[in-house]
Amino acid sequence: MLCLGVETSCDETGVALVSEHGLLGQRLASQEAVHAVFGGVVPEIASREHLRVLPLIYRELLRETGTRSADLGAVAVARGPGLLGSLLVGVSFAKALCLSLDAPLVGVNHLWAHLLAPGLEGEMTFPALGLLVSGGHTNTYFIESPLDFRPLGRTLDDAAGEVFDKVAKDLNLPYPGGRLVDRLAGRAEPDRDMFPRAYIDNASLDFSFSGLKTAVIQHLSGRQGLRFEDLRLEGLDSVLDDPPVDLARVCASFNWSVVDTLRIKVERALRACAGARSLVVAGGVAANSMLRRAMAELAADHGLILSLPGPDLCTDNAAMIAHAGRLILGFGRRHGLDLEAVPRGRAVPEDWVRES
Ligand code: KG4
Ligand code: ZN
Repeated sequence: MLCLGVETSCDETGVALVSEHGLLGQRLASQEAVHAVFGGVVPEIASREHLRVLPLIYRELLRETGTRSADLGAVAVARGPGLLGSLLVGVSFAKALCLSLDAPLVGVNHLWAHLLAPGLEGEMTFPALGLLVSGGHTNTYFIESPLDFRPLGRTLDDAAGEVFDKVAKDLNLPYPGGRLVDRLAGRAEPDRDMFPRAYIDNASLDFSFSGLKTAVIQHLSGRQGLRFEDLRLEGLDSVLDDPPVDLARVCASFNWSVVDTLRIKVERALRACAGARSLVVAGGVAANSMLRRAMAELAADHGLILSLPGPDLCTDNAAMIAHAGRLILGFGRRHGLDLEAVPRGRAVPEDWVRES
């Protein structure tokens, strides 16, 4: 069955086609450049861009893959959590398609879709311990099956990706700067005493990153020369390839503090709920080089199979939405045309209806 996936939860507009043979094709239109000048995503601009771009990339995807609308067996759409105005564009588009084609609609939890994404590249093993690290979330789950996620820990303040982006912003790097900090961090050894690993001296499975963020910003405020505006170097690329050693060390030490905090909490979560056979790491920050190495080591130490999507599948995309939609349909679940979008901060309900 051919399933169209639609992703508009933040600043990436995506459409993808997934069948039993895997990913047939996808189109992703990034709004990064539009929002970069504002140093973050501007919700109203994001919605307007989705509205403009979504029908265009849908047409392109059909043309590229030689597909007709009538071939679609189902439409899966990211229904939250995300920016409400952005989600409404994707959900309305998906509903309109389903109405006109008389095809089933499936609303997909964007966070679950991230954690199910490795299934597009190979078999996943359940139960799994899931770590979702993105721009908006830092969550751990015990995942019994693609329909059964038990929340374990979450961030009490900033998400890991948000802290990467804020540190990058303080360095005057363009938004979103996580991957640039990653590149700089690769150029030095971390100083493990430079920054704190917040909220680890307790039994909690929750995370807190705001203390680390403040520590890095304070460190930088006393060293104005580390900021990009003061470096007086030509292009960004040349700095990223050969950064001043102090700058690279700050990035490496900050990156290490985030990664080691994640490692400690994942190990704690594994102890709290025995039985996981695999470790899944997903979301934009799962593209981080140091985190990928640390999680590979952790999985090996605990005898767990590691499911880590390729870097392109870590960040927001529609392939993961189409894939999760097919899995939900495979369990005989779908949604009606009354499907609601769920904004950030609200739990996404498991309000599927059974396939009749
Ligand atoms: O999952 P995602 O694409 O969007 C959300 O749902 O939030 O994650 C985006 C986040 C951004 O904060 C971005 O800076 C971060 O992922 N990110 C990284 C890397 N690549 C993307 N953070 C650290 N290292 C990376 N290589
Ligand atoms: Zn995401």
